[in-house]
Amino acid sequence: MNKGLQVAIDGPASAGKSTVAKLVAKKFNYVYCDTGAMYRAVTLEVLNQGIDPNDEKAIAEIARQVKIDFEPGESEQRVFLNGEEVTHAIRLPKVAENVSAIAAVPEVRAEMTRQQRQIAEKGGIVMDGRDIGTTVLPNAPVKIFMVASAYERARRRYVENKAKGIDTTSLEELQKAIELRDKKDSTRKVSPLTQAADAVRLDTTNLTIDEVVDKISQIIKKTQDEL
Ligand code: DC
Repeated sequence: MNKGLQVAIDGPASAGKSTVAKLVAKKFNYVYCDTGAMYRAVTLEVLNQGIDPNDEKAIAEIARQVKIDFEPGESEQRVFLNGEEVTHAIRLPKVAENVSAIAAVPEVRAEMTRQQRQIAEKGGIVMDGRDIGTTVLPNAPVKIFMVASAYERARRRYVENKAKGIDTTSLEELQKAIELRDKKDSTRKVSPLTQAADAVRLDTTNLTIDEVVDKISQIIKKTQDEL
């Protein structure tokens, strides 16, 4: 019987990680874990409580206190913060604008990493984020680093926002925001966005979702056969 593997998918914002990760998880009957949603949920709670974004101690306390849960939904994974659904609230621009700063707090990362390792413990999981292959699951047998041009990523996020009825800024503004977030995520001191040495780099700029899912599925099957 094939063993449920740990599959780590990392890459910059809007490279298509979550769309692809969800489909791969479904195909292999694995659990899907969106770690970005966890950092977003902490950020939302910090904003809701009106905590000063520079007060690292208070922010770390929030990260330790909040209860973040996932539940499979009809078309998307539902996210709960302290029992309340925040699936849409965590996608609001105010959260996107503040999440990089919150995700850079070392204690926040330590707590999220601890929870993520617990979620992934039994295997049979597709986890997407920025530091899964490098820090959270350094021994994951399948590691993918997904990239796409900033323009293509902004275009995808724009189309996605429109489809979800989320208030969106212009394509140009989105591209600028994505580039800024890339820079913040790649240059932070703790667990910056970097490709793990043993990750497979996948440029999705000119690939369809199905093509990316196929490529990753082949890698998983090959790894399962080798183990
Ligand atoms: O993937 P996303 O856009 O939902 O991620 C939101 C933010 O969280 C992003 O700015 C980077 C951060 N993040 C992180 O630092 N580490 C992760 N494993 C996942 C996300």
